[in-house]
Amino acid sequence: MESINSSVVIVGSGISGLYCALKLAETCPDIHNISLITKSEIKKCNSHFAQGGIVGVMSENTADTHSSHISDTIKAGAGLSDFNAVKFISETSETVIKDLIAHGVNFDRDDSGNLNFTLEGAHSVKRILHAGGDATGRVMEDVLVHDVFQNQKITVYENTMAVELLVTDEKICKGLIAYNENRDEYIRYNTTCVILASGGMGQLYPYTTNPTVATGDGIAISYRAGAVIQDLEFIQFHPTALALKLPECNFLISEAVRGEGAKLCHADGSTFMEKYHQDLELAPRDIVARAIFNEMSELGLSNVFLNASVIDKAVLEKRFPTISKICSEHGIDISKDYIPVFPAAHYSMGGIKTNLEGKTSIKGLYAVGETASTGLHGANRLASNSLLECLVIPYHLCEYLKSCDLSHDFDCGYSFDNVISEYCKEMGFVQYDVGILKSELKNIMWKNVSIVRNENSLKLAKQEISDLKNRFLRNKKCLNIAEYEFKNMLLNAELVVDSALMRKESRGAHYRTDYLSQNEVAEHSQLLNEKGELVFVK
Ligand code: SIN
Repeated sequence: MESINSSVVIVGSGISGLYCALKLAETCPDIHNISLITKSEIKKCNSHFAQGGIVGVMSENTADTHSSHISDTIKAGAGLSDFNAVKFISETSETVIKDLIAHGVNFDRDDSGNLNFTLEGAHSVKRILHAGGDATGRVMEDVLVHDVFQNQKITVYENTMAVELLVTDEKICKGLIAYNENRDEYIRYNTTCVILASGGMGQLYPYTTNPTVATGDGIAISYRAGAVIQDLEFIQFHPTALALKLPECNFLISEAVRGEGAKLCHADGSTFMEKYHQDLELAPRDIVARAIFNEMSELGLSNVFLNASVIDKAVLEKRFPTISKICSEHGIDISKDYIPVFPAAHYSMGGIKTNLEGKTSIKGLYAVGETASTGLHGANRLASNSLLECLVIPYHLCEYLKSCDLSHDFDCGYSFDNVISEYCKEMGFVQYDVGILKSELKNIMWKNVSIVRNENSLKLAKQEISDLKNRFLRNKKCLNIAEYEFKNMLLNAELVVDSALMRKESRGAHYRTDYLSQNEVAEHSQLLNEKGELVFVK
């Protein structure tokens, strides 16, 4: 097996991974080589699809304050957000946004050159920065990808998937094993610092705004390696995905469209949000998603509609060029026609438990971005806080790593021969139709573990996932990336179900028809893989 020594290995090429690589290269003189591995092409990531924007509590926005952002985040998070995480991330927002602007990210500005701030659900003031109208993630990603390719210290390995972390019995991470599908080869990366930036798991559901790469691989490999996983039952469903079958995922109709005044309605134009929340379309996302789900279930509908024709046509064109274009390609003129929408899986609030420096429970293993759970999002993420977290934690992690000795002790004293040998074995001849298996799993999750769940649906899902597992006999080595993804999806699905079964209350995005009320005390759910068993850590 080929072996690569690297000061740092970053897994994932979304905004958090790219920003982390660049900050490390810029700020840590001891770091000579950074390997950035990504299982697909560098720009194939969830960040690319982020439309609405990024929260920035900026001093030039006199209407805004940290205390108001902190209070909005905690309220939307249904009391589960960690105050210190929220405060720290809010207070660091101006620093990282200015850093991003210095890297060349041009956020949209008014004619006088002032930053434009917009509104999204559950924000009490306009504080969301955007770029390219509704292409914030794409604009940020393009700038960072360009800079990464210019940087001599960073080597990008595309089509290379991390399949197993190398962790000692003392719980110290010493690198990882990755699979390069183009060359059909395994590579061992030796390092004392692995940073997982591998995104969320929206692909567990048939309806999702996340691209096909979002299979929660970082969460699965860290759980197998013994890291603590937190709050996985909280899957956020975005209320307004375009209700049309597109090849990869459901195209997002940004919450910012509602922020500019669009109304949810039925085909006859009648509105319904007044039945559900005083803040109507701009209520917290879990409430709007459940309201739409309820209307659809009660009336037997396959979608509701968003009426954006109430917004000035010039504003629509300027603010939402991507949405206008994609809808128009499907025969919808958003300045006149109602847009068919329904809720779709969008974001995983839980993930690998970390502190504010991205440290996990395994020494030398860090996690940033959606794959991590810092406690910021609580039970329901406030819109546009995630891109901010994608910058703040890497920024802080780099500050921490500056003081660490990342010198190359690659002869770590562990051969990991037993692990390596598993990946050198010949494969048997069994072939799986992973496409079909993945859709079976997604349907199980949608029917039983989505916007509304209960003990019966969760137990049924657990049984059906276990049956699927018994049909997919790959314990370690798989044939290709699609199989590794499915193996990870099966594990993540089990973990989501177990966490959801454990939480006997309704809170934020976790809504149980058999436990409608919210417990007095807000607690995180935590899972730890010990000797192959689930252990709940409170
Ligand atoms: C959106 O544009 O509606 C998505 C923003 C987010 O998920 O934070």
